[in-house]
Amino acid sequence: MHKIYWKESVIYEVYLRSFKDSDGDGIGDLKGLISKADYFSELGIDTVWLSPIYVSPNVDNGYDIKDYLQIQPEYGTMEQWEQLLEELHKRNIRLIMDLVLNHTSDEHPWFIDARSSRDSRYRDFYIWRPAAEDGGPPNNWTSYLGKPAWTYNKATGDYYLHLYNAKQPDLNWDHPELRAAMHEVITFWLDKGIDGFRMDAVNSLSKDQRFPDTEETKLQASGEPYTKNGPRIHEFLREMNDKVFSKYEIFTAGETSQVTDDDVLLYTKPERRELSMVLSAEASKLADAEEDQWQSKDWTLHDLRKVMLKWQRDVGGPGGWFGLYLSNHDQPRMVATFGDQGEYRVQSAKMLAIMLHTLKGTPFILQGEELGMTNHPGLTRIEDFNEQQAHAYYDVMVLERGEPEELIMERIRKKSRDHARTPMQWDDSPHAGFTSGRPWLPVHPDYREVNLQVQQDDPDSVFHCYKKLIRLRKEHPVMVYGEFDVLLEEHEQIFAYRRYDDDEEWLILLNFSGEEARWELPEEAAARLEGASFLFGNDTDVSKPRCHRTGTLKPYEGLIYQRLSHGSA
Ligand code: NOJ
Repeated sequence: MHKIYWKESVIYEVYLRSFKDSDGDGIGDLKGLISKADYFSELGIDTVWLSPIYVSPNVDNGYDIKDYLQIQPEYGTMEQWEQLLEELHKRNIRLIMDLVLNHTSDEHPWFIDARSSRDSRYRDFYIWRPAAEDGGPPNNWTSYLGKPAWTYNKATGDYYLHLYNAKQPDLNWDHPELRAAMHEVITFWLDKGIDGFRMDAVNSLSKDQRFPDTEETKLQASGEPYTKNGPRIHEFLREMNDKVFSKYEIFTAGETSQVTDDDVLLYTKPERRELSMVLSAEASKLADAEEDQWQSKDWTLHDLRKVMLKWQRDVGGPGGWFGLYLSNHDQPRMVATFGDQGEYRVQSAKMLAIMLHTLKGTPFILQGEELGMTNHPGLTRIEDFNEQQAHAYYDVMVLERGEPEELIMERIRKKSRDHARTPMQWDDSPHAGFTSGRPWLPVHPDYREVNLQVQQDDPDSVFHCYKKLIRLRKEHPVMVYGEFDVLLEEHEQIFAYRRYDDDEEWLILLNFSGEEARWELPEEAAARLEGASFLFGNDTDVSKPRCHRTGTLKPYEGLIYQRLSHGSA
């Protein structure tokens, strides 16, 4: 077994704005984060992924960067950031930074210069195209915001591309000078001693240079397929590796969308020297309609199992790797989408955690997930929302198309990314201990019951479940490197699988429904697992009998049976 530390890791996403405020301005900051460094050791995670903290006008909460080399003043100073790195390293915790390579802010000096004249030395850092024959945009692409992906620039008399907001112009990776400039940015941070990057929208860097019209009809088409996994993407990543990454002891997790298994293998097979792992949104988007991500689609356990199996078998099998998550700062809370945020909140949050820590892949935890935080019921009117996608959707659907406001608000209430961004719930003091001021997004009203302090004292809490799972991962290589095999593939309520290596075999049974569920193992598996002992589960009753061929799970119950191989301790 070839051991690789980032496969063994558990990565914790800090969405800094909402983590811990130290100065009462209602916005999380570096000093606040430093004050919580011991929390990571208590939880047991070994890597922090820090959301963007660079200077930004904040149109997209930091994913629109104006200066890659300076810290956003509301978050603190470079000295504080350096102190953070030191404090984490002291505790053997790695720090990975968010690397946004696809676009800058329109307030970045490169773009300000580029848009001023066709003679700007930065012109080719961005993507410019002449108007179509009718004088309109160069092609029919829409952005992720459902608006045109091109904006006319008067001074140069042509259009620039932006797959997101018009204030987030796309960079032109086909231009060697831009690539060199970005390599310098990456080097700047690596020289400071960080441990890697989460790379934003990384499979969009290479665009089809013909810029053809797309046939894609969905609202957030963003030029697909011509903007994903483009003709030179592998070349760009290999170059980045050869020139920069390979000189440091680091790892990379690339955010990718619209990837096939074969794409993921191309990105992550070690001998190709591109990315360490990808983060694919496929599972987290199972409840989103194809034609418009704001509309809901009924998902079934079969759908979820299909995605998971694909990753386990077709990617993990042949040597690729991926991060495992069901929500990050871009989706509503996972317990709301895949579990039950009412009666079975605790149970289902724990069951989902068991899945994310026992499948092959590196688990990513979004802050607050380890407390079972849920969607915020008080975000109701459009003014209550902060994130740009919700506002863009409202503009397009209600103001431009005249769709009924109530219908559109219903979708926004359910799907907005803001649910994942409400402040961390530390304790039951005002504003959940997040700030002494007025929080930038409201604290969830359940914070008196759902907070870390309460859960630290409760051995049956979601928090303790995460702690135990993270510890188990350190003690049992089978969770990381073991083989995977699905069982009960047709079951409508239970996701069941085995993980096994030379030392032990685990049976994992997860009930994805609010009803009891019965299982019956196939003969061969039953023979192998008969008598296996109960190792871990989310039920408060832990006096579970040994494994038999049949059994019943309570609503949202998840459990692990373990069988040691002959000769192992
Ligand atoms: C993905 C990030 O996670 C999201 O928050 C952001 O809006 C887009 N990429 C654009 O950078």
